[in-house]
Amino acid sequence: MQKFIVLIILLIVAISSQSFYQNTPLAASIKNGQSVYATYCMSCHMEDGNGVEGAFPSLVKTNHLNDKNKLVKIILQGMRGQTVVNGITYNGEMAGLNLTDQEVADVINFIRNSWGNKATAMKITEVAPAKKSVVKGYQAF
Ligand code: HEC
Repeated sequence: MQKFIVLIILLIVAISSQSFYQNTPLAASIKNGQSVYATYCMSCHMEDGNGVEGAFPSLVKTNHLNDKNKLVKIILQGMRGQTVVNGITYNGEMAGLNLTDQEVADVINFIRNSWGNKATAMKITEVAPAKKSVVKGYQAF
């Protein structure tokens, strides 16, 4: 009987820890996204996401991170033209970056869930359809 109870407990622990990991793909993606950010974005948008006033826009608590498809465009295609972020006007240019779908999803999850930002997960399978609308000469906002 005791053996049986121990077995049941082990089974519950096994099942619950597995579902725990399955329920946290966002956490894993954010972690990967942090290193993508450090490699490809941090030099301009800075470690704290606040950018450099007048030169590189902040990614902190702007309503511009709401649209995941737009973020895919900006990251892969770059962005030029005027944008107003948290009351400050930018008229610069960001070059497009050559990232994999996984890196794009991860960095989007990182910036949308860091520095007080909070948003739903971007799945890797959502990147390819978003890429279809990536066009030349596109102005994001
Ligand atoms: C060489 C500097 C540089 C790098 C590297 C860079 N950016 Fe940018 N980013 C900019 C500039 C400059 C703008 C504003 C462009 C404009 O004024 O139209 C911008 C704009 C943005 C915007 C839109 C801001 C808004 O609210 O309008 C987002 C989002 C963004 N970048 C994310 C990223 C991410 C994510 C990465 C890394 C994958 C990255 N950037 C890498 C310079 C950079």
